[in-house]
Amino acid sequence: MRRLDQLHGSAFVSGASRGLGRVFAQMLLGEGVRVWGTSRDPSRLADLSAGHPGAFFPVAFDLGDRENAVRAFSEASSAAGGGFDIVVNNAGYGVFGEFSALDSSIWRAQLEDMLGTVLELSHAAFRSMRSRNRGCLVHVSSIAAEFPLPYMSGYNVAKAGLSALSESLMFEARGSGIAVIDFRPGEYRTDFNRAMLTANPSEATRPARAALEAELEASPAPERAALDLRRALLRNRSGIVRSGSLFQAHIAPLLARLGPASFVRWATARYHGL
Ligand SMILES: NC(=O)c1ccc[n+]([C@@H]2O[C@H](COP(=O)([O-])OP(=O)(O)OC[C@H]3O[C@@H](n4cnc5c(N)ncnc54)[C@H](OP(=O)(O)O)[C@@H]3O)[C@@H](O)[C@H]2O)c1
Repeated sequence: MRRLDQLHGSAFVSGASRGLGRVFAQMLLGEGVRVWGTSRDPSRLADLSAGHPGAFFPVAFDLGDRENAVRAFSEASSAAGGGFDIVVNNAGYGVFGEFSALDSSIWRAQLEDMLGTVLELSHAAFRSMRSRNRGCLVHVSSIAAEFPLPYMSGYNVAKAGLSALSESLMFEARGSGIAVIDFRPGEYRTDFNRAMLTANPSEATRPARAALEAELEASPAPERAALDLRRALLRNRSGIVRSGSLFQAHIAPLLARLGPASFVRWATARYHGL
């Protein structure tokens, strides 16, 4: 059976302390790839460092501190030998609330973190991959880029923007040795909801929030996403990878391509308890 280390030697995974990023890091380590993984608090990565000496390297990294995040990436990239074979921009968080009820600075900060900082990291990664004419850039976007989540406007915009960046870079990577993967998870059972910033919850948002909690509890374990990412990295080809439950990752996107936009919007609202 082919292993990833036959193609790739090193990887950067943002948000490796828990959830999807952690299983991505574990999968890569299991395949013999050296991993630089991030957390705002690297002590959360201590077990990965202890379990994989010489193969896992913790990196302190906060999307909200762009300058330091780019510097941390660049230092890790040098330590990896002058560039990563795989860069997984995974770190992210949700903000839940009515658009007008929250201060606009909250939404703007989310865009600056999840789009602005990630764009800078992708720029550095893509530039380095271009100079070596090889590498695999993965953006962990979301099915929310296609089916926006109610009361998560900043998140929806950030993920739609990230997917648009992936598609833009896919054009530029054509004919090169670089692959750009837009990885779109449906819901996975992680701490995402618990970590979500919820400000000024109003009566109107309650059904959508309850539906979101129920969906996340019933969703697949994150290991499935790691298997899907592994397959995509082995293919080493640019493209969109939808990952998750059969309905969210496959049936809903297919139906959405066939049905009128107004029907899709109605069905999505019903699905999310509105
Ligand atoms: N779970 C889902 O259903 C789902 C669905 C679609 C897309 N996604 C996307 O998948 C990615 C991972 O989500 P998850 O479900 O694994 O969430 P999670 O369990 O909450 O993990 C989030 C990870 O991102 C890091 N992180 C969060 N905010 C950060 C910040 N401001 N700066 C730097 N790092 C930060 C966290 O690290 P520290 O707290 O240790 O710093 C943690 O490692 C996110 O981009 C999310 O949008 C998730």
